[in-house]
Amino acid sequence: MILSIESSCDDSSIAITRLSDKKLLFHKKISQDAEHALYGGVVPELAARLHALALPKILEETKPYFQDLKAIAVTNEPGLSVTLVEGVSMAKALSVALNLPLLGINHLVGHIYSLFIDKETTFPLDILLVSGGHTQLLHVKNLEHIELLATTMDDSFGESFDKVGKMLGLPYPAGPIIEAYARKGNEKKFDFTIPLLASKQMAFSYSGLKNQVRLCVEAHENLDEQTICDICASFQRIAVAHLMRQIKKAYKERAIERFGVVGGASANLYLRGHLEAFCASKKAPLLTAKMEFCSDNAAMIGRCAIDAYEQGKFTTLEALKIRGSSKDMFIKK
Ligand code: KG4
Ligand code: ZN
Repeated sequence: MILSIESSCDDSSIAITRLSDKKLLFHKKISQDAEHALYGGVVPELAARLHALALPKILEETKPYFQDLKAIAVTNEPGLSVTLVEGVSMAKALSVALNLPLLGINHLVGHIYSLFIDKETTFPLDILLVSGGHTQLLHVKNLEHIELLATTMDDSFGESFDKVGKMLGLPYPAGPIIEAYARKGNEKKFDFTIPLLASKQMAFSYSGLKNQVRLCVEAHENLDEQTICDICASFQRIAVAHLMRQIKKAYKERAIERFGVVGGASANLYLRGHLEAFCASKKAPLLTAKMEFCSDNAAMIGRCAIDAYEQGKFTTLEALKIRGSSKDMFIKK
């Protein structure tokens, strides 16, 4: 079995995955949404202190599995440096105490493996990764070969939902709340423009759309419930239209064998609906993760670690480095 640890942002999570059949045997996650909601975004130092409390608590529950462990896996990049340190220090301590090899796992590759919990992998695979830190279109040959087809020039898809939510006075993380409000709103009420409409560039951009919403919010003296729903619906329509437009452009001349959507924002059913229609037009199946594995979790890290273990991708105590990117992941207050 492999014990895996995730602490790249504001979720403390540990999983136990069995090597022989890739089965997830134990999985627990403690989220910090309530604590960060007070500040309207993730506060890295607070997140680190909360990991220091939550991770040992979860670890205690995994003690019965210790005798069967063959490796310790941990997210070591990308993420908030101060929170990654919490998971990586715990992984190194366990590796020393239990005399087990270490596996460093890339968080984004981990998200791809959220599609394969309890399952065999199916590659090649094209991926839309939509999270709070990233918006990427990827062509995945296997764990080793991942080609970046497009990425965001500024804000990420999930981050734009969080920032629009903040303008509307909604709590963090706003993604699921905006999706729920959008269901009650008129998506044609506000005519926001699709980003990069005139550009041939293969990229995503959300800061312009965010500013369009800001101007719209500022133009209303009093935001009643129906106006908030209409803004959410109109914003979500354009945010998804932009994703779909760029995706269609990227695959105009490219065949797709199978397409997967991963990351926290892949839980959005409006987005999933549009991707289903696109995949049907390309005659490719759409792979989605179970809702509980869309947002950050250690189960996906453990599943990725199974493949890394089988390929002998071990690292030493000294070589296991943290590569944070707080610029990408920190949601400004
Ligand atoms: O993958 P994740 O848990 O953390 C990162 O690695 O960033 O993604 C969290 C992001 C947040 O920005 C959150 O607002 C967004 O995913 N999100 C959503 C939805 N559920 C979560 N965005 C849009 N619609 C949703 N239903
Ligand atoms: Zn993530």
